[in-house]
Amino acid sequence: MALRLGDLAPNFTANTTEGTFDFHQWLGNSWGVLFSHPADFTPVCTTELGTVAKIKAEFEKRNVKVLAVSVDPLESHKGWIKDINETQACTMNFPVIADDKKQVAVAYDMIHPNVDDKATVRSVFVIGPDKKVKLTLTYPASTGRNFAEILRVIDSLQLTATHKLATPADWQKGQDCIVVTSVSDTDAEKMFPKGVRKVKPYLRYTPQPNV
Ligand code: BEZ
Repeated sequence: MALRLGDLAPNFTANTTEGTFDFHQWLGNSWGVLFSHPADFTPVCTTELGTVAKIKAEFEKRNVKVLAVSVDPLESHKGWIKDINETQACTMNFPVIADDKKQVAVAYDMIHPNVDDKATVRSVFVIGPDKKVKLTLTYPASTGRNFAEILRVIDSLQLTATHKLATPADWQKGQDCIVVTSVSDTDAEKMFPKGVRKVKPYLRYTPQPNV
């Protein structure tokens, strides 16, 4: 069955381009992004891995570890990484799982047989420090992912994990947030000293507290 938000992210032993490790142990207290690729030496995936390598510092700033998975073997990944570095002007700096037995692909339901019964689709899982699934995204093989959007969701997830807030459509870090409806007006004024703007009883904005 597909993984749902709040489910425990399945653990596995990862055989990766940066060694073998236990996934949960490797995550430690960090957040994690696990994302799948249909196959090695494919054009869209090549650009995606290059993009993530170049913005890895953005994930690190947020205490997020990134981990890619492709169902090809390790030797193939090593050859592909040379091409990624060459064509994307980057240095690969995060592990890629060699999931040739499809252990991870099956555990995370990354194979959608009505599309392709062997290759994984482009899945993304954001995993919290509690090892629970916080976000799932599924893209078709033909569409490269928007990693700025993944960072944006992580900003929202990390903010709303510690504040009684939600974030509106297209929210970006630093913009006004929404006070959740379970908080009374009186409590909202105390909780959010930067001020609360009431548009409707159910729609109250406050400046982001932690910037
Ligand atoms: C790609 O990564 O370029 C790709 C992979 C599978 C199907 C189509 C494109």
